[in-house]
Order: sequence, then structure tokens, then C-alpha cells
Amino acid sequence: MNAHPLTPQQIEQLLEAAQSVSEMAYAPFSHFCVGAAILTNGGKVFTGCNVENSSYGLTNCAERTAIFTAVSEGAVTAEHDLRAVAVVNKDGAACSPCGACRQVIYEFGPDAIVIFRATDGEITQRRADELLPEGFRLRG
Ligand code: THU
Repeated sequence: MNAHPLTPQQIEQLLEAAQSVSEMAYAPFSHFCVGAAILTNGGKVFTGCNVENSSYGLTNCAERTAIFTAVSEGAVTAEHDLRAVAVVNKDGAACSPCGACRQVIYEFGPDAIVIFRATDGEITQRRADELLPEGFRLRG
């Protein structure tokens, strides 16, 4: 569980990593380049960018690219493995996670801290379950 807040250094590191990977975004259709960096509870950082497609609906957001990379590396496997997610637009535009990404973040970190630039222009932190109240979870 995430009892402790992130340090300012951790926040800065994630934002810098997200900004850096936003340069890799493949966004020829929207021209909205996004980078994400996640911190696992094991202390590892993974990054991802958005990857668009000529068939628009196949686009993968930056947050999901980063999370799926961490899963495929074995660093995120269970409900509370995700500690934090930072997401940035390359040009500094407001960019909070879309609804689909909120659900994917929720899967691995309902209490993860999500860092993004809000519509008021401020870098903002919210818990994932604040961004997605009553997020879906399949209970067997
Ligand atoms: N996008 C992300 O990568 N993350 C978000 O949370 C919001 C939207 C991308 C998807 C698409 O490539 C572009 O931004 C415009 O919607």
C-alpha cells in the first residue's frame, strides 16, 4: 500500500522521465505527443509514449505503454504493485489520464499517485481511485 507520499525528488525524476520519452511519441494524426513514467513498489521506473495508428481506435496511450512494458518485464504483477504514474504532454499542455488508462492504472494501483498537469495549468497529484471512483475489478 502507498502510505507515504512521494518525495519531491521522486516526482521530479518521474516527470523528467515522462518528458524525455514523450520525444518518442508516434502521433502523426493528433500531433499530441505524450510521455508517461511509472514507479513500481519495487522501486523500478518504466516509461512509455503514445503510439497512434492509421486505424485510429488502435492507438495506445503513453500510460498503458509504460504499464504494459512493466508487466511484460515482470515488475508489475499484482493489485498494489504500482506506486506512481506521471504523464506529460511534450509541449506542456494539460494532460490527465484518459478513462481507459485510469482503469488500467486502477488494476495495478488503486492507491497509486497520478501526477499530471491539470486544466488549471498546475502539476497535480491524485490517487488513482480518486480519478476513478468505484473502478471495475473482477472478483472471483
Ligand atoms: N493520450 C495519451 O497518450 N494519454 C492520455 O491519457 C490522453 C491521450 C494520447 C492518445 C492520442 O495519441 C493523443 O494523446 C490524443 O488523444
